[in-house]
Amino acid sequence: IRRAVIRGTGHYLPERVVENSWFEGKVDTNDEWIRSRTGIERRHFAAEGQMTSDLGIRAARAALDDAGMSADDIDAIVLATSTPDLTFPAVATMVQAGLGMTRGFAFDVQAVCAGFVFALANAEGLIRTEQAERVLVIGAETFSRILDWDDRSTSVLFGDGAGAVVLEAAEGQGTSDDRGILASDLNSDGQYRDLLYVDGGVSSTGTAGQLKMQGNLVFRHAVEKLAKTAHTALDKAGLTAEQVDWLVPHQANARIISATAQKMGLPMEKVVLTVSDHGNTSAASIPLALSVAAAEGRFKPGDVIVTEAIGGGLSWGSVVLRW
Ligand code: ACO
Repeated sequence: IRRAVIRGTGHYLPERVVENSWFEGKVDTNDEWIRSRTGIERRHFAAEGQMTSDLGIRAARAALDDAGMSADDIDAIVLATSTPDLTFPAVATMVQAGLGMTRGFAFDVQAVCAGFVFALANAEGLIRTEQAERVLVIGAETFSRILDWDDRSTSVLFGDGAGAVVLEAAEGQGTSDDRGILASDLNSDGQYRDLLYVDGGVSSTGTAGQLKMQGNLVFRHAVEKLAKTAHTALDKAGLTAEQVDWLVPHQANARIISATAQKMGLPMEKVVLTVSDHGNTSAASIPLALSVAAAEGRFKPGDVIVTEAIGGGLSWGSVVLRW
């Protein structure tokens, strides 16, 4: 059967690094609170005029370099974001143009923090159904543009950045020993809209709006739903948690990540943790973590990697792959 194998990873983080202490004069908070409640120490913020597509293009170029490919080799771009440059066209088409690609196709996926997991599952579908041989899958966000700087309970949590992977079709045996994406599990439940949303948009206010979150409620859903979706995806792949080499979770909060790992029976040595340096970069956090860990040489060929994420919607899911 046709599998979708990761051939390269790359990422880009804006130059400007903002430490927790930066927020101390702006809202009633402190470095110790942010660190102990979230695990976040610093985040990157895009410069004025630097857009989601700019971050995406840089991450895409890095992933292509890593794969030893050029833009001409790519048939499709699937980009996950909730912070597009414009209402339309899709940021993916802006990345396409930025890479100098005039063939193939490109579109965005919107599932907030779960966006990269949804994009990866969709890209695998394109490869399986022979609509593409090679797909660039990107998560790119500029959440700094939708933060309420007067709200200490949300403004300290998010960062900007982009990550990308190159997927390529490869023949597999149809067993859990194959390299590539082995299984996915996607979920949404729109009745939880008010737990995490942006209070503006094209057809409502005509403005971009600001992020609103009931963090403690999202926290509870996260811990319960993330371990469950990861187990479901593992089950579909014919694998168990004991066979997992790496958990590469959405990086929202170190406490959610460690609680999920614990529920899955995974020691923290098997968890890729980047939230301290990146904050929550929404759809970019998983490809960023994949790219950072891959660059450090942490993944060996054949390793089983579980990605999982939850975000606005609520939407949540997991993709299991063999490196
Ligand atoms: N500094 C100091 N105090 C703060 C801050 C801050 N930055 N933020 C909140 N507090 C206060 C609150 O006001 C509250 O004070 P009170 O008791 O006087 O009312 C107290 O800290 C406790 O607040 P909680 O919200 O209960 O704190 P909690 O331990 O739950 O941590 C947090 C808050 C970090 C937001 C946590 O709930 C969380 O991480 N939630 C999940 C976030 C998440 O995963 N989002 C999903 C993905 S994001 C996406 O899809 C875009």
